Amino acid sequence: MVCRIVVLISGSGSNLQALIDKLDRQHGEIVAVLSNRPEAFGLERARRAGIETLVLNHRDYPDRESFDRAMISTLDALQPDLLILAGFMRILTPEFVSHYHGRLLNIHPSLLPKYKGLHTHKRALEAGDSEHGATVHFVTEELDGGPLVVQARVPVIAGDTPESLAERVQYQEHVLYPLTMNLFASGRLRLIDSRACLDNEPLGARGIEPEQID
Ligand code: GRF
Repeated sequence: MVCRIVVLISGSGSNLQALIDKLDRQHGEIVAVLSNRPEAFGLERARRAGIETLVLNHRDYPDRESFDRAMISTLDALQPDLLILAGFMRILTPEFVSHYHGRLLNIHPSLLPKYKGLHTHKRALEAGDSEHGATVHFVTEELDGGPLVVQARVPVIAGDTPESLAERVQYQEHVLYPLTMNLFASGRLRLIDSRACLDNEPLGARGIEPEQID
């Protein structure tokens, strides 16, 4: 059975592009890309790849709950096995998150649990960290707090700016996210009893590094 994947975006969609380019088509299909912003460039990337695009503008809804309910009905019609948040810049309601429990992945530009939330590159530089990175995790109700799957480290170099650091972190994101998607699509990655498991073995609290995966 092919895993039906929907990618949710709000912006440029460079991660979406990596997902499209590196999808293991034997196990997965990106059936649609949904954006909450009509002008998101990622929609253009999806169209070029022949993928269905959907726009649900959060500004058309009176509150977060009604927006998320509209998303649930739109997404459920697609019968997704996996939802991938790829720069989707909306906080999701507990109702949405629990509805897709075990089927919802996010990528965050930091070595979680460090630097949840925004401006992660600037915060890592201000703290004088020697390394920074990106993390893919299952989404739970705690913002940027669900079980970690994979994490990639990036050294901080003298003279780094938030922009230069972001560029190197994004390069790693484009490795991590397709890898995770393909592990899920092939059935090797699952959320079991609230723990991320690879080949039925629970991963450690910090997840796994890409080099450790065969
Ligand atoms: C990525 O850096 C990701 O970590 C964060 O949002 C950014 C999305 O970038 N959640 P893009 O739209 O995939 O280029």
